[in-house]
Amino acid sequence: MSQEELRHGPGLKYSIREGLCLEQKPEPCGMVIFGASGDLAARKIFPSLQGLGQKGLLPENFFVLGLGRSPMDLAGLKSRLPGLPNLYYLQGDYTADSTYAALGSRLKELAAKHGTKGNVIFYLALPPGLFHDVTHQMGKVSLLDQTRGGWSRVVFEKPFGQDLASALSLAAEIRDHLQEPQVYRMDHYLGKDTVQNILMFRFANSIFEPIWNRTYIDHVQISVLEAEGVGRRAGYYDSSGVLRDMFQNHAMQLLALVAKEPPASFAADCVRDEKIKVFKALKPFDERGLAERVVLGQYRGYRDEPGVSAASQTPTYAAMRVEISNWRWEGVPFYLRSGKSLRKRHAEIAVIFKHVPHSLFSQLAPTHLDPNTLVFRIQPEEGVSLTIEAKKPGPKTCIGALTMDFDYAEAFGEHSPDAYERLLLDVMLGDQTLFPRQDALEETWRFIEPLLHASLPLRSYSPGDWGPEEADRMLESEGRSWRQP
Ligand SMILES: NC(=O)c1ccc[n+]([C@@H]2O[C@H](COP(=O)([O-])OP(=O)(O)OC[C@H]3O[C@@H](n4cnc5c(N)ncnc54)[C@H](OP(=O)(O)O)[C@@H]3O)[C@@H](O)[C@H]2O)c1
Repeated sequence: MSQEELRHGPGLKYSIREGLCLEQKPEPCGMVIFGASGDLAARKIFPSLQGLGQKGLLPENFFVLGLGRSPMDLAGLKSRLPGLPNLYYLQGDYTADSTYAALGSRLKELAAKHGTKGNVIFYLALPPGLFHDVTHQMGKVSLLDQTRGGWSRVVFEKPFGQDLASALSLAAEIRDHLQEPQVYRMDHYLGKDTVQNILMFRFANSIFEPIWNRTYIDHVQISVLEAEGVGRRAGYYDSSGVLRDMFQNHAMQLLALVAKEPPASFAADCVRDEKIKVFKALKPFDERGLAERVVLGQYRGYRDEPGVSAASQTPTYAAMRVEISNWRWEGVPFYLRSGKSLRKRHAEIAVIFKHVPHSLFSQLAPTHLDPNTLVFRIQPEEGVSLTIEAKKPGPKTCIGALTMDFDYAEAFGEHSPDAYERLLLDVMLGDQTLFPRQDALEETWRFIEPLLHASLPLRSYSPGDWGPEEADRMLESEGRSWRQP
């Protein structure tokens, strides 16, 4: 791209000055992928490794060792990772001591062969029920011990527990064998460009922060809407539901990015410390009046999905009104909603500003004017839009809402890479900024867990709809409405 480029969108021109990039090359390392025959490996991990390889971002000295129970031969692994050199496969039972003994000697041999200095990433792309055992087994044979020469890091996939007690029990096992700087908990929403852009937007510009508070912001809406039903992951989903699958992790992380105070620096712990302060300021759910703050739903036909119990009470939709009790946000509702089998796949954070205090335009009350709205679109197309009121052309005084829209793909001429690419690179670089820390997990479980046990009615909604109508009423009762993307 030239130093400065002028691009044209429909009714829009914008220039992009070539920015500053932090150029970092990962140190030599190997990557062990537990569950290399699985769905996540095929859909996310392998394509992301290939993407990094094509961009020249993998370390020069690098190897991948797939591990699994399945008798997959090397050719099988190579067909899943075409173009990537230095691939190996090891077959073994995750609970057998012999697997870890074999893994240890294989790693020594590969480290010497590829000059990876003993640095190794263990990616647990396994059902979460195996996290305990695998961590324990690796710890037992000192695979996680950093004093043996070289670093070791472990990537855990969500879910990080089923509730606070199980999250604490997993944490205790992890702590026995790993230091927190070795632990990378994947929340792939944090790897998305727009999500990271929230921090740039808020803290690399001086015009937004002065209005980023209860004086100017009316409310915030965070929506993670999925068009698909539970599909192949019905078994997992039926024991989790939307509160565990979306709210305890992704939705809470998004909320923290919008609501947190400016960190003193971009260092991982500075950024993560500020999130904790937001989680600690969340107003707990109270049994009294809970039905006015939370709506749970299940789509019609969910109980007929293969793998779902016929009497399932698992919510596939939730909407909630969240409050943050601190100086910046007192009185500003954060409305969160997420669900499956909805009309559209769409995720966004919308910041809705207050109405003007007084309208100058005859016959127009302030509430006739659309409030300014700033939207961070997370998927499917990543971008940012700002809606302002503007005069329509012509001799009469006509006002209308004008939306200025910035689309990542259009502006930069390329689609954002998959979030896993960014996050895998960060693991190699040892940068934990975008990975939730244990204390964040505990605070978010503390906040969400009461909803798992609350006696709330389960509303039904039709597939392809926007969710239960009670969720609409929740906002209408406060004079607001959900945005319809
Ligand atoms: N798939 C996704 O879209 C997705 C999204 C977000 C998070 N995750 C998380 O990522 C992790 C992996 O997900 P996945 O969808 O890839 O899982 P998966 O396909 O069900 O399982 C991954 C691999 O684990 C091994 N495995 C499965 N069940 C096992 C069992 N009962 N005992 C021992 N080994 C077993 C299998 O490999 P071998 O038979 O070769 O050992 C399998 O190929 C999970 O923690 C999941 O929650 C997945």
